[in-house]
Amino acid sequence: MSDTIQRIGILTSGGDCPGLNAAIRAAVKTAINAYGWEVLGIEDGFEGLIQPHKARPLDLTDVRGLLPRGGTVLGSTNRANPFHYEVSTNGEVKVFDVSETVIHRVREYGIDVLIVIGGDGTMRIAQELMPKGLQVVGVPKTIDNDLAGTEVTVGFDTAVNTAMEALDKLHTTAESHHRVLVIELMGRHAGWIALAAGVAGGADVILIPEIPYHLDVVADKIRQRNQNGAQFSIVVVAEGSLPLGGEAAYVAERDLGGVSRLGGIGEVVAAQLRRLCHADVRVTVLGHLQRGGSPSAFDRLLATRFGAMAVHLIAQGRVGHMVALRDGQITAVPLSDAVARPKQVPLNSDLVRAALGLNICLGNHRQAIVAG
Ligand code: F6P
Repeated sequence: MSDTIQRIGILTSGGDCPGLNAAIRAAVKTAINAYGWEVLGIEDGFEGLIQPHKARPLDLTDVRGLLPRGGTVLGSTNRANPFHYEVSTNGEVKVFDVSETVIHRVREYGIDVLIVIGGDGTMRIAQELMPKGLQVVGVPKTIDNDLAGTEVTVGFDTAVNTAMEALDKLHTTAESHHRVLVIELMGRHAGWIALAAGVAGGADVILIPEIPYHLDVVADKIRQRNQNGAQFSIVVVAEGSLPLGGEAAYVAERDLGGVSRLGGIGEVVAAQLRRLCHADVRVTVLGHLQRGGSPSAFDRLLATRFGAMAVHLIAQGRVGHMVALRDGQITAVPLSDAVARPKQVPLNSDLVRAALGLNICLGNHRQAIVAG
């Protein structure tokens, strides 16, 4: 197929994360050096294919110096679904299907195959555009690591490192003031960031959406630590965590188009712990700090391998696939596998067992967790 390709397009879509620029750089360099193709960069995700004049050629000089840079030089948005495109006029929001505009724009730009770097929402849009004629290859990214088909997504490792460093810092102040410090971490409805950062950062309690919590179990853990002489505790709460039989917490105001955003569970847990443990409790919400900064070595390598492989897949004619990491190897999975279901932390994973073995409280009794 490589002979029939002249120009590929590339876009980044959804929430940004460290490593996007490294993936763009790898794809551009491989396309030009290995195949002699032209590359067109699309700005602001699918918005750049809905609106005119949002594309620019990318050559080798455009990707110079990108490897360590966080964010995305192409821009991104998580609000431009072509099948559900919201337009606000005089305060009134109307929804349109502009998917045909996207297909038209891809043809107008002479893009033979489009590389989309994104999370589950992006991969779903890409898959839905395929029957309309879009030739596409996916590159998985999201700090949440909740995309199926790949063991790890670009951005996850750096976010875990950022959260781990925050936990190291919270430890010293928690100990000095004999406090319970609660930290709310991102991850949507998956606990990957919270579990990994919590274990790496030596948390005493880790609450994740996959294990609805009992506040009594958490309070017992904190009391036990106090009795054993540790006058402080570190409680990690994933933003999508929820009490057994209860609901996840959402911020009061909604985004444009009525989209709900997770947030506030850290304060909920803290208020209850104050009451149950009579402890001095403070809350940190790490928020978008987890999405920023220079990518870790792991993310630079993963993004580079993914970006290069995406281009090789195009050359092999394997469109409709997403690059993926499986058993340490870069491979490809059909886009349909990637969007089939969200990837949550399996309760029988070795990391869950390791956490339990270290006596980290996961918000419920060990037997209940192991029983799944
Ligand atoms: O998907 C990445 C993520 O950072 C989630 O962890 C978080 O819930 C969400 O995006 C926040 O989105 P926004 O950038 O719209 O605030």
